[in-house]
Amino acid sequence: MTRVFNFGAGPAMLPIEVMQKAQAEFLDYNNMGASVIEISHRSKEFGEIIDRSDALLRELANIPRNYKILYVHGGAQMQFSAVPLNLINRNPACKASFVLTGTWAVKASKEANRYGTALNIASSKDSNFNHIPEFDASMLDPESSYVHIVSNNTLYGTRWQSFPDTGDIPLVADMTSEFMSRKIDISQFGVIFAGLQKNLGPAGLAVVIIREDLLEHAIPETPGLLNYKTYADQHSLANTNNTFAIYMMSLVMEWLKDQGGVEKMEAKNEAKAKLIYDYIDSTNFYFGTAEPAHRSIMNVTFKTLNEDLLDSFLEQAEANSLYALKGHRDVGGIRASIYNAMPVAGCEALVNFMQEFEKNNA
Ligand SMILES: Cc1ncc(COP(=O)(O)O)c(C=O)c1O
Repeated sequence: MTRVFNFGAGPAMLPIEVMQKAQAEFLDYNNMGASVIEISHRSKEFGEIIDRSDALLRELANIPRNYKILYVHGGAQMQFSAVPLNLINRNPACKASFVLTGTWAVKASKEANRYGTALNIASSKDSNFNHIPEFDASMLDPESSYVHIVSNNTLYGTRWQSFPDTGDIPLVADMTSEFMSRKIDISQFGVIFAGLQKNLGPAGLAVVIIREDLLEHAIPETPGLLNYKTYADQHSLANTNNTFAIYMMSLVMEWLKDQGGVEKMEAKNEAKAKLIYDYIDSTNFYFGTAEPAHRSIMNVTFKTLNEDLLDSFLEQAEANSLYALKGHRDVGGIRASIYNAMPVAGCEALVNFMQEFEKNNA
């Protein structure tokens, strides 16, 4: 079997070693004579899996003791509801501030507006979100219960290079497309959430890191299974959680540790992104769509100067085992999503293909 280099934005490539391990123990987990997806979420063995996932994540992301780790159903978008339900009441004015850096931030803002008032305090919509807008704390309504940002903008290939100081107002970050790909100071945030499907495991579940003092503010109508306190109090096992996704995440965390942890991974990710950006910047045949100072190292977005070449670029790329490079329709062009599991060889193969394509079509 030949595996392609999968540049899809998510669900995305997972480390081959992780999938091989899952495959090897799929029918018989830990000599139990049963698969990990057949055992109780309350069994001792599953308890060990979720404990291991917690411990590795806490160690690798350097999560302080006063933060809880939760595994919440519904992927990242469910957090667009869960965050306001749990936090917007922190201040009785029920306001939350949003920095609009793309579709995911806009969606989160609209959802929060159902439970309170979403204030869109900065936006880069006018330039199709090709950069992170200027932001400083003076723009904040002091009655905001929290500030929501999207740390890495999957569609547009931008990221916050550093994070804003929001003072006493908790900063909430949707890190779905970059969590565990670069070093983050967790203590800067009130809540971090990420859908698993890029750097952490299969789709459908989100990991939530929350400062403990923020667990007490849910509005009374909050569904029990969206209330962070339910998860915190019952170790994310109030219901039958997605045991397979948590198991896969524990394997991905083991792999990340074997790779040398987040710092090593960040250096590797920077080198991978640099290979592609350097090539884009060295030629007029391609151009990047995000402002260079705001570029993501997870999602590299670019176009061919002659846009008519896009379809043949994508077709020929796929014939060369370079899969799912089509940009999101809101941006167009090409997007190479190069999450943690994408090997350097995948980025090299892409650059070689780009050079060849240019030679044949310039
Ligand atoms: C930054 C960001 N937020 C939210 C989502 C939505 O994730 P989900 O499909 O798990 O709801 C995505 C998906 O790509 C994303 O990249």
